[in-house]
Amino acid sequence: MEFSTKRSTPEKRATPCIAVGVYAGRKLSAAAEALDRASGGSLAEVLNRGDMEGKLGATLLLYKLPGVAAERVLLVGLGAEADLQEREYRDAVRAAVKAAQETGAGAATLCFADIRTGRRDAAWKARQVALVATECAYRFDYMKSKKSEPRPLAQVELLSTARDASAVARGLSQGKAIGTGVSLAKDLGNLPGNVCTPSYLAEQAQKLARECKLGVEVLEKKDMEKLGMGSLLSVAQGSRQPPKLIVLHYSGGAKKAKPVVLVGKGITFDTGGISLKPGAEMDEMKFDMCGAASVLGALRACAELKLRLNVVGIIPTTENMPGGAATKPGDIVTSMSGQTIEVLNTDAEGRLILCDALTYAERFEPAAVVDIATLTGACVIALGHVASGLFSNKDALARELLAAGEEAHDRAWHMPLWNEYQEQLKSNFADMANIGGRPAGSVTAACFLSRYTKKFDWAHLDIAGTAWKSGKDKGSTGRPVALLTSFLMKRAGKA
Ligand code: BES
Ligand code: MN
Ligand code: ZN
Repeated sequence: MEFSTKRSTPEKRATPCIAVGVYAGRKLSAAAEALDRASGGSLAEVLNRGDMEGKLGATLLLYKLPGVAAERVLLVGLGAEADLQEREYRDAVRAAVKAAQETGAGAATLCFADIRTGRRDAAWKARQVALVATECAYRFDYMKSKKSEPRPLAQVELLSTARDASAVARGLSQGKAIGTGVSLAKDLGNLPGNVCTPSYLAEQAQKLARECKLGVEVLEKKDMEKLGMGSLLSVAQGSRQPPKLIVLHYSGGAKKAKPVVLVGKGITFDTGGISLKPGAEMDEMKFDMCGAASVLGALRACAELKLRLNVVGIIPTTENMPGGAATKPGDIVTSMSGQTIEVLNTDAEGRLILCDALTYAERFEPAAVVDIATLTGACVIALGHVASGLFSNKDALARELLAAGEEAHDRAWHMPLWNEYQEQLKSNFADMANIGGRPAGSVTAACFLSRYTKKFDWAHLDIAGTAWKSGKDKGSTGRPVALLTSFLMKRAGKA
């Protein structure tokens, strides 16, 4: 899908399809009014017939309006003008793109850059248009023997004025870059566990590195043994697939500038191990590498945006399988940090691979470390599928990430990380247990990680509820690539 902007008035723009907004109560947006005027009141006439009230997301397609250069006019409901915020704006854009996709137009011009959306500027709106349109065009049919028809909408144009044309153009290209990262994360998440193995992830990281000129290194089991990553390796030992520790470097900043380090949980399939999960919906545990996928997606976006900062991506990746060699409940392992862990539940494996990756992050003298993980079912109970859980040892970093989530409409919610919760991790036999019982399960998981992140500013995003959708729309969401990219853009001074 291609994106472009054009400085024109709506009635003069010769395009296969032009989309304009209508607010609730049949109130025309400025662009709709322009078409109405040019066509001698045709829009008002249609609305007066009662075919379109302006309900958010409703659409109505009109042909051959007199005095209008476009072949088709698509009316898009915006809902009440006073209620139009980020979410409503995105919903309206989605409705417009989906309706245009159903026509034979092949290209669409959206008159949405001037729709007032809280305090958001034209660049933000253009970013969202490109992101939402990319989402609408996304298909995952690599594993089907018959591919779906290619989507007919090849081009999306966003109309602009002399005043906002450059902001709109910039926003569109940013949105496209972020959308490419989101799609990459979705693809990796959607691939089944028998294809997307740790070795596959490592190959994809190498491919990304080639395409985007990133540095890459893949540590093998023997390297991890030398580093003393006993915790990560204890998760891998039940699997026939070799574990990998993938390290990627994006160097857009000054040589000496400290990097932001992103660490992504890469469990390519989580059976629970010897603490085996129940069978229902276990297939969804192929998504347990969505943290890793979001790191790759964010790095891809960074490279396309040419952000001026340094970013290191670290991906510990393995399967979590039962087997004769698997870790057993009660086993005690020694992490790279030297701290010992009593593995009371082998299904709490994410923290076991992350802790060694976080210790490994120390060597990069990070400006900040953010880990991203489908870590706990408890986080899904706490926040559902709307917000990712955010935990941090530094409030300023938490605030940055919260703001990035708001700006990208890929939101997180700040959760507590108080010392009171640490007591739940007490073990009679080792330095700590790997589980803290049922109460506040997402908090005690974060508390566990906090014991490995004392040397730097750190935040943890629990994306268990946000990384994929279940049910009939089952599939990876690509979250939180947009949040991470927005955060990195701000850090690079390019937002
Ligand atoms: N990958 C899961 C977390 C998860 C569960 C994500 C459901 C999305 C949906 C993680 O490895 C896990 O199994 N966590 C356990 C931890 C428990 C044993 C302390 C959980 O949440 O049940
Ligand atoms: Mn698990
Ligand atoms: Zn898991």
